[in-house]
Amino acid sequence: MQILYSIEECIKWRKSLSGSVGFVPTMGALHRGHLSLVKIAKKTCDYVVVSIFINPTQFSENEDLNSYPSMINNDIKHLKNEKIDMVFIPSKEEIYNQKGDEYFYDTPLSKKLEGLSRPHFFKGVTMVVAKLFNIVNPTHAVFGEKDAQQLIIITKMISQNKSPINLIAGKTIRNKYGLAYSSRNSYLSIKEQKEASKIYQSLMLTKQLLDQGERNSQILKNEFIQSIRSVASLKLDYISIADTETLDEVNKIKKKQILVSAAVFLKNVRLIDNFIY
Ligand code: PAJ
Repeated sequence: MQILYSIEECIKWRKSLSGSVGFVPTMGALHRGHLSLVKIAKKTCDYVVVSIFINPTQFSENEDLNSYPSMINNDIKHLKNEKIDMVFIPSKEEIYNQKGDEYFYDTPLSKKLEGLSRPHFFKGVTMVVAKLFNIVNPTHAVFGEKDAQQLIIITKMISQNKSPINLIAGKTIRNKYGLAYSSRNSYLSIKEQKEASKIYQSLMLTKQLLDQGERNSQILKNEFIQSIRSVASLKLDYISIADTETLDEVNKIKKKQILVSAAVFLKNVRLIDNFIY
């Protein structure tokens, strides 16, 4: 496995390859969710590239950029086990070396859901993903359904830019309590992780009500809120039931696909989860 730190080396290495290249961008502190995406890339492509870069432009001043978990040695060990071909670990200066405006993909979708709570977020995400795509030049990229809005926006960015990249979505991987793996789970004790699994249980309650025929979003949201409230340490940021194309809230659920998504705080740790119906 090659470990490359500079854009120049990365481009040179890429040029030496022929065949398909699967790319999994990450911010490191790799867990089973990340590794499931790596396995998809490995199964689909001739070569697999993973990037590890804690992207400062997707954090706001009051967020956890400075404490975001970093475990590079452990990450490298995991990636060697997966037998990937190259890991790209650029510095902040390597990625953002120029002053002035950088490209980012602007879409009204960025202002909704996560964008309401984190207005800076998708500007930063699309900025770094577009840059990484240019450097790695993958034929395939794998993103997780865990970050549903990110997946939807990157899909749009690829399509609008007519980038020749096949996007593959990976299912959300959960621990035995149902809590979706997240690098931020390392901020939580086991007891807190069990409490946080109420997020998934509450989503599954919503799904059960949908299965039983409930079509009124407000009723579904109220049930979700009640369920979250039963665990004192959890504080709801939002619960949304939205059209998967426009991300606009849906009041009465009809035939179209919906994204049921939530963000919940436990202490100051913000956790997100979702399902599509
Ligand atoms: P990060 O949070 O490290 O996630 C990297 C990829 O792993 C994303 O595609 C995310 O959706 C996926 N992922 C995270 N948890 C998962 C889980 N439990 N099951 C399956 N997939 C999971 O998302 C980012 O980094 C950044 O925004 C990035 C795209 C790298 C840009 O900086």
